[in-house]
Amino acid sequence: MSKYNYFAKKSLTVLLEEAEGVGEKINLKKTLSASSLVMLGIGAIIGAGLFSITGYAAANNAGPAVTISFVIAAIACAFAGLCYAEFASMIPIAGSAYTYSFATMGEVIAWIIGWDLVLEYAVGAATVSISWSAYLIKLFKDLGINFPVQYALSPFQTYTLEDGTLIYGIINLPAAFVVILMSLLLMRGTQESALVNAIVVIVKVGIVLLFITLGWSYINPSNYTPYIPENTGTFGEYGWSGIVRAAGVIFFAYIGFDAVSTAAQEAKNPKRDMPIGILGSLAICTLLYILFAHVMTGLAHYTEFKGIDGIAPVATAIQKTPYQWLSRGIIFAILAGYMSVILVMLMGQSRVFFSMSKDGLLPPIFSEVHPTWQTPWKSNLLFCLFVGLFAAFVPGHIVGEMTSIGTLFAFILVCVGVIIMRKTQPNAPRAFKTPLVPFVPILGILCCLAMMISLPFDTWLRLIAWMTLGVIIYFGYSIKHSKIGREQSK
Ligand code: ALA
Repeated sequence: MSKYNYFAKKSLTVLLEEAEGVGEKINLKKTLSASSLVMLGIGAIIGAGLFSITGYAAANNAGPAVTISFVIAAIACAFAGLCYAEFASMIPIAGSAYTYSFATMGEVIAWIIGWDLVLEYAVGAATVSISWSAYLIKLFKDLGINFPVQYALSPFQTYTLEDGTLIYGIINLPAAFVVILMSLLLMRGTQESALVNAIVVIVKVGIVLLFITLGWSYINPSNYTPYIPENTGTFGEYGWSGIVRAAGVIFFAYIGFDAVSTAAQEAKNPKRDMPIGILGSLAICTLLYILFAHVMTGLAHYTEFKGIDGIAPVATAIQKTPYQWLSRGIIFAILAGYMSVILVMLMGQSRVFFSMSKDGLLPPIFSEVHPTWQTPWKSNLLFCLFVGLFAAFVPGHIVGEMTSIGTLFAFILVCVGVIIMRKTQPNAPRAFKTPLVPFVPILGILCCLAMMISLPFDTWLRLIAWMTLGVIIYFGYSIKHSKIGREQSK
């Protein structure tokens, strides 16, 4: 064989044939409508970010101006979202950012991004499952059920009981349990999963709306003064730098809108519905987030959210209203709501590996579709194990930061891809066009880069370690089995 072509590209024609399932005996089922795609997006977006991180960011970084941070993060996501929408309507195939890179920048970059997406989807699912476990324990406590805390913490975590006893974590069983449950549901079928997701989304959005409407009349305007608390002298502690830092912190709350693009192959009319799914879910969530944060910081003073984690910021805010009963309802909604985030992330993960496996870059097991369920069930099973292990044994903040850095990296490559595609394929049909290219993608790149830089050094090291492992697998397995790369090297 002559020199291997690491930058072999997949042509649009081939991609579109794949999207149509040409030459396939069993394919992913096309069942998702525009509204189920929006639901899928909301299902993936609203979760730990809104219910946990908002209070933290208000207390430590931005004060009531956390609403402005939500706007800033939304703008950054909108730039990336517009780029995703162009690609998803143009190449409606399960692989998302991986496939877009394969069409624009070639195999090795596509591999890098596909491998990186594991951080967003699989590790992201683990992050949310760990937060889910914390809420479950909180609910158990409220109901007087005694769950041994050491079995709800990873080995590196400790917990101090009310009597002062220090408990060392052994394994986070509830986190692993919810991962297993969602994986089983996914294996059963996309349509079933979409139905469960739709129900959960209605409950979740219902609770958010209830909180906003019931809370609105109890807002104490004095809590908004000063709206932007004065900077303490340290970067990121209030003032404008605090608002920017908070934007980086609450970025996690927006992760998930891009997961819609991984379901492109299962959409009934992807060309029209993909942009609706991606941008629609992002817009709805942005509006809900800003209103939610406005009511939350209006009900209680931002300093009251200090040192509080989990459900506490929401509960603290509700205490200022006569609606105490809402508190428990919110815990239930959060538990259900997190499940849909985990579900969509796990689904996104299996769909990316589905595409990579089809291209020969990963073993065929990842693209085997179950004859009746029509889902990549073996892939779901393997990821159930992988994500379950992370959920059981790794602390939440580590997986959380890995999720953010991985996602931001993927967003950057998608923005770069749009610019390249406009140059290399200027006349290819685009059902949706990103406006003002190259400005919008460039702004997307800059915003995401700024947020990546604000993440801790350790997280960068983990990203590098994960990517190095990916490179080893690429050279050890993928280039020997790659369909496109080998074909274009002859
Ligand atoms: N956006 C998702 C959440 O906040 C990941 O849980």
